Amino acid sequence: MATNEAETPNADQIAYWNEAGGSVWVEMQDRFDQMTAPFSRRVVEALAPKAGERLLDIGCGSGGSTLDLARRVGPGGQVLGVDISVPMLDLARRRAAEAGLGNVRFVEADAQTARLEPPGFDGLFSRFGVMFFDDPATAFSNLYGALRPGARLAFVCWRSMAENGWATVPLAAALRHLPPLPPPVPGAPGAFAFADPDRIRGILGRAGFSGIGVTAFDTKAGVGDLDQTLALVLRSGPVGALLREHEDKRDTVAAAVREALAPHQTADGVLLDTAAWIVTATA
Ligand SMILES: C[S@@+](CC[C@H](N)C(=O)[O-])C[C@H]1O[C@@H](n2cnc3c(N)ncnc32)[C@H](O)[C@@H]1O
Repeated sequence: MATNEAETPNADQIAYWNEAGGSVWVEMQDRFDQMTAPFSRRVVEALAPKAGERLLDIGCGSGGSTLDLARRVGPGGQVLGVDISVPMLDLARRRAAEAGLGNVRFVEADAQTARLEPPGFDGLFSRFGVMFFDDPATAFSNLYGALRPGARLAFVCWRSMAENGWATVPLAAALRHLPPLPPPVPGAPGAFAFADPDRIRGILGRAGFSGIGVTAFDTKAGVGDLDQTLALVLRSGPVGALLREHEDKRDTVAAAVREALAPHQTADGVLLDTAAWIVTATA
């Protein structure tokens, strides 16, 4: 890692979500919103937002969940979406303006280190936006400091890669044509960083949270038909990352992944196993 990157927390993630990651999420935002909808419903239910509350949406991306929360807290409440991705935040702001929502703000900030003002938020929400911190203990202590005593936390994160067919089905097909992956580093920043529930409990507990709940939520989910799913898989997640390093294999991998996804087609599009944790706590 270059010296500058070592000095800036989350430098790799900031680069990723402003470049390859940000562009695919902006372009395919409706697909990602479709896939994450069942998780959103569960985690919103767990947070139970009330009219008039001030909420944080951490790693809010293009704002799908932020706008939903803003409608729930109503004109007397407020939601602050926090993210490091400029292109995703630009889209989130456009969507808020189109929806005519005046009670939502977005800030470009690293949730691990930024002071989120004014403190005393009533709740912290995140839909798959808290697994990317290079120092999650510091990040959750920082977030704890932005909440009022008694505030609620509810976020959703992935369990292990092995339990998530949306990652393993295309990856196994791709790896038949690519060099083997280095062994994964447990807990490394990325989609599966919070697979271990004891690690989540430890990080939240040390940050000051109590009443920590970690509940499994399993469902079949998808982003659309076979073409839509293939287009997204080739540009995001583990297969997308591999193809950015092995462009020459794109056509071969695309054919193999298409074949692997085909048996998972249903009347509702390609549906794959997903496995998440719904995490709740009190500040
Ligand atoms: C998987 S996306 C989820 C986006 C959004 N929550 C959704 O469900 O559509 C992860 C998001 O976390 C953001 N993120 C990653 N590290 C972050 C950090 N340190 N501070 C704030 N946001 C971060 C990324 O930029 C990205 O928008």
